[in-house]
Amino acid sequence: MKVLDRTEGVEYAIRDIISHAREYQKTGKDIIYLNIGDPVNYDFKTPQHIKEALIKAVMEDENYYTESEGLPELRQAIAEKENGKGFSVNEDDVLVTNGVSEALDMTMASVVNPNDQVLMPGPYYPPYASYAKFYGAHPVEFRVFSDGRADLDDLKSKITDKTRAICLISPNNPTGEVFSLNSLKEIVDIAAQHDLYIICDEIYDKIVFDDIFSGIGKVSRDLPVILLNGFSKVYLMTGWRCGYMCMNSNSPKLDNFRKNVPKLARVRIASNLPVQRAAVQALNGPQDHIKEMVHKLKNRRNFIVKRLNSIPGISCNLPRGAFYVFPQIDLNNRWKSDLDFVLDLLNNTGVLTVHGSGFGSSFGSDHFRIVYLAQEDILEDAMDRLETFLVRKLK
Ligand SMILES: Cc1ncc(COP(=O)(O)O)c(C=O)c1O
Repeated sequence: MKVLDRTEGVEYAIRDIISHAREYQKTGKDIIYLNIGDPVNYDFKTPQHIKEALIKAVMEDENYYTESEGLPELRQAIAEKENGKGFSVNEDDVLVTNGVSEALDMTMASVVNPNDQVLMPGPYYPPYASYAKFYGAHPVEFRVFSDGRADLDDLKSKITDKTRAICLISPNNPTGEVFSLNSLKEIVDIAAQHDLYIICDEIYDKIVFDDIFSGIGKVSRDLPVILLNGFSKVYLMTGWRCGYMCMNSNSPKLDNFRKNVPKLARVRIASNLPVQRAAVQALNGPQDHIKEMVHKLKNRRNFIVKRLNSIPGISCNLPRGAFYVFPQIDLNNRWKSDLDFVLDLLNNTGVLTVHGSGFGSSFGSDHFRIVYLAQEDILEDAMDRLETFLVRKLK
């Protein structure tokens, strides 16, 4: 029987590439996985006190359905965290979700109609486009410079009467770029002039290396800003699936959103209760692991960027947050596309990365994404293999 086109058309490059890796593995050779941004799969482990809170909740029989909007204590802790970053949100305007992924699904489901357009930073984290398309809308990319400024002329030129929202991801996946405060202000001013929703993903808010992070909250005023965030990355809880959305409490324009989106939360009953107990601990307990994680990641970032820039055919910007690099590759008529390059690299070296066009064709093509969560000896092995491969191919 037929399945609908909207389902058939769903793409997620980061995981879709794995089918090629499985084929390669059948040859019995090892793979260096640098394709999925899951720190818990590397040497970053969920802090002890967070694990203990989960176990305690389970053992104390907190295994029932909880409030659809989320555990009140957790909503309160989330509101406090986001208030601390300058965002005006009270606990009633927080919805706890099964990861940022579910919050994004609910948001797109609620703001776009078929044939609407949604602006997103090029390149972008693929589910932004996937969900927009699933609900019938068209993703439109705008240029972001490597110093964390949006290209405002490009952004303005892409706004039409069909544009409904601007998505921002800061720090971004796949580039690690972080929007500066001034750039955020310029973007929200444009959104305000055109009456657009602003959907901002700050899941990497505490994984920044060089500057102090500025969140959207500082410039949100009374604008219709929906902030998405979660516990996967900063609190090393990827597999537990916990995230949230915060609606700007100062924005009357969000009143319909505020009234109706919780219905989507109710219809899927609730998020996982023991995990929400652990999330309360994550926010209210010790934060020491974050400093350690950022320190380790900064060293790995510096190492990989230096190595990449010394390899012929590759140029790479210094990412200022998250744990990705997004080098440009000179395809040099050797490869038809960035996907072709990534597959050739995999098949010749066992190094698994993700093709840049999977993050949007306008600004992602001719690039590939590397996750630099692995320990330095593994990264070094991967860089050696990449270098040998490129030197041979580009001879
Ligand atoms: C920008 C961004 N948002 C959301 C997610 C997914 O978050 P979650 O695990 O909370 O669903 C990711 C995961 O890589 C991401 O990079």
